[in-house]
Amino acid sequence: MENLRTINVALLGVGTVGGGVYKLIQRQASELPHKINANLEVKKILVRDTSKDRPGIPKEILTDSFEDIINDESIDIVVEVTGGIDPARERIARALQAGKSVVTANKDLIAVHGGELLDEAAKAGRDLRFEAAVAGGIPIIRPFKECLAGNNITEVMGIVNGTTNYILTKMDEDGMDFDEALALATELGYAEADPTADIEGYDAGRKVAIMASLAFNSRVVFSDVNVEGITKITAQDIEFARNFGKVIKLLGITRNSEEGIEASVHPILIDKTHPLAAVRESFNAVFVHGDAVDDAMFYGRGAGEFPTASAVMGDIIEESRNIMMGCTGRIGCSCYKTIPIKPASEVESKFFLRMEVPDRAGVLAGISNIFGEHNISITQVVQTPSVDGIANLVIMTDDVRQKNFDDAIAKLEALDSVNEINSIIRVY
Ligand code: NAP
Ligand code: HSE
Repeated sequence: MENLRTINVALLGVGTVGGGVYKLIQRQASELPHKINANLEVKKILVRDTSKDRPGIPKEILTDSFEDIINDESIDIVVEVTGGIDPARERIARALQAGKSVVTANKDLIAVHGGELLDEAAKAGRDLRFEAAVAGGIPIIRPFKECLAGNNITEVMGIVNGTTNYILTKMDEDGMDFDEALALATELGYAEADPTADIEGYDAGRKVAIMASLAFNSRVVFSDVNVEGITKITAQDIEFARNFGKVIKLLGITRNSEEGIEASVHPILIDKTHPLAAVRESFNAVFVHGDAVDDAMFYGRGAGEFPTASAVMGDIIEESRNIMMGCTGRIGCSCYKTIPIKPASEVESKFFLRMEVPDRAGVLAGISNIFGEHNISITQVVQTPSVDGIANLVIMTDDVRQKNFDDAIAKLEALDSVNEINSIIRVY
């Protein structure tokens, strides 16, 4: 195809994701004219260190000056794949103000400053796209904004962190303990050198904030999400869960009800028959309930060079089509409501509790009295045979308001007949 226009792209960053995007643009070169009616060219790449050896990347397009990019009027799309809040936030705002559309994979930034950056895009009549910011290669941002726009969505649940899903899978299927599974996840490159954001649930929390904003058309930021990681989960919890026909998954959950939006990340026991229970290893999945679509599940790779680059490329291609048709700024921010956040103390859950108790008469009665006083209904109780006069007691509750549950736990901890509460895990 001759005499086609060229859409010029600048990459901010060419690490794991940026490198994948660069390679995909080359790999797709002969297809792109058919897909966007234009050629696509990477004109400049911003890095910190231009002297570093980067196989396959022409040195002459590398720069360590953002000004080179912002001042280049021929650049149509800026792709931010550096990560972190600053300076990415200012660079994205400046790119939009300079009339460039922006594609980013930066969940840390979008989960906190997404609203203000989308406002900048609207002011400039340009687009800010972030499909790769949630669940890597799985299409979920555009489905919320477009394909599911005819729904009132009431619940979104997801396994949106591959590192923790891999760790929990290895603990469940291979009997590893947490440290052993984390070491393997690090060795295989799933976990970062500093795995804190993954194992403490922050990474999943950021993705939940972004999904909640899109699902309920009301801005939810990372600090609105009640976050707990998987560091306290033990092999024993996993074994008890299995005996109850359940598996433990780190689930991001967000719901919209008359009392407001609840948004959380917790390790949760789910039935082995639930579709999310079958999501193993480092895979991600998002389960959506809408009033029209009913249940829908999106499954795939949540991270990695090409899966993440796939999502970024989809955004670049869609944006190129908009530029070619002169219709940028068509969808923009979809948060047109202001729904309050439901306080964590008001959220209801079922619970699994594991505790060590002396094996003697009256212990169970004392515990169940406390539950009764706090309006907590017990659904199952299991006691293991005692060793040296100490037994493991496992209790499953019905739905209980967090405040009532916390009050009951404080009373249990003060009981002489409870040696130790080992685990408290939510149940779906
Ligand atoms: P990465 O491998 O660490 O690459 C970062 C790149 O950005 C490097 O090329 C680095 O330059 C450059 N860079 C970093 N800070 C910069 C600065 N201040 N100025 C100029 N260049 C800078 O990171 P990544 O894994 O590709 O992640 C990129 C983004 O994608 C992050 O927001 C991440 O959360 C998101 N994401 C990643 C994945 C994944 O699987 N990796 C999945 C989903 C989303 P040098 O090479 O010179 O150091
Ligand atoms: N660290 C993330 C994970 C990938 O383990 O899923 C980037 O979102």
